Amino acid sequence: MQEFIIGSDVMRFIIDGVHQVAKFDVNVLLTGESGTGKELLARIIHLESPRAKNRFVPVNCGILSGLLFEDKLFGHEKGSFTGAISRQMGCFETADKGTLFLDEVSGLPLENQVDFLRVLEDFRFSRIGGNEQIEVDVRIISATNKDLRDLVKQGEFREDLFYRLHVVPIYIPPLRERKGAIAKMVNHFLDQLSSRYGKPRPVVSPEAMDIFCRYDWPGNVRELKNLLERVFILNAEDTIGVEQLPSDFIWHFKEPPAMDLGEVKKKAETRAILDVLSRVQGDRERAAQILNISPRTLRYKLNRYGIKVNSRGSVV
Ligand SMILES: Nc1ncnc2c1ncn2[C@@H]1O[C@H](COP(=O)(O)OP(=O)(O)OP(=O)(O)O)[C@@H](O)[C@H]1O
Ligand SMILES: [Mg+2]
Repeated sequence: MQEFIIGSDVMRFIIDGVHQVAKFDVNVLLTGESGTGKELLARIIHLESPRAKNRFVPVNCGILSGLLFEDKLFGHEKGSFTGAISRQMGCFETADKGTLFLDEVSGLPLENQVDFLRVLEDFRFSRIGGNEQIEVDVRIISATNKDLRDLVKQGEFREDLFYRLHVVPIYIPPLRERKGAIAKMVNHFLDQLSSRYGKPRPVVSPEAMDIFCRYDWPGNVRELKNLLERVFILNAEDTIGVEQLPSDFIWHFKEPPAMDLGEVKKKAETRAILDVLSRVQGDRERAAQILNISPRTLRYKLNRYGIKVNSRGSVV
């Protein structure tokens, strides 16, 4: 199992809650931005639970709707629809005695939510096209990076289902709010990469580490992990310094080149004036109207910027 790096007081508090909640069959809703570690925590909860020997079954709720969704979750009997050539178990059955992880639960189609809630109440259902009532023993962990309460307010998510899933909510803060963990994560991921790829473990220079710690990581831990993998693979040196960081990442920290705002304005205005003058065949009255300035201002700008046009509006 992958190790979960804590590295900050907030995460320590969260992990304590996770250890506690893992022991009981209570429904957990993990929330947090993309890449913050929701799935990893869901797997840890499963592995620390009495269900650890049985399956952890992840299902992405955002990609299927209607009958396809029912089929995925509840399965079907042979011949129940065209293409149903044999009996097929759904995720609820596969996860029996284990954990069903409802990923992106906010994407659960409204049309499927009623049936779904009913199953969560008593864990009984039948496969599509079947009469037999199947009973399963499943623990539910859900995750979302959207605000489910907002979706409830907007009428896109059933309130009763929300409360069913939300018995123990766990919010994982974005990486930018726990920057103290970054250095530890960098070292951990480099150790991991080194043993996975059988390549010596590079050292990170203090300057590069400082950049990692200052960056806001909008893609959270996933972004950090992916960047390190890229740098690790492409770098032949035994140190990761600022020079080894990819240019599309490092530009966030480079000082922008000097620019004179007056020059920027002059260029933009010259381009606009020339464009309009050529399209109105040099008619200055008309051009001034279009540019929403007086003919006098137009004359002034032509002089000041040294723009010379002929009577047809072309540059001379
Ligand atoms: N604290 C952590 N320690 C070690 N690895 C972590 C940690 N948090 C996240 N990761 C790793 O970062 C990657 C992204 O995590 P995960 O897939 O769990 O995010 P997520 O919240 O489910 O994202 P999404 O909402 O996009 O599905 C995974 O490879 C995971 O193992
Ligand atoms: Mg995920």
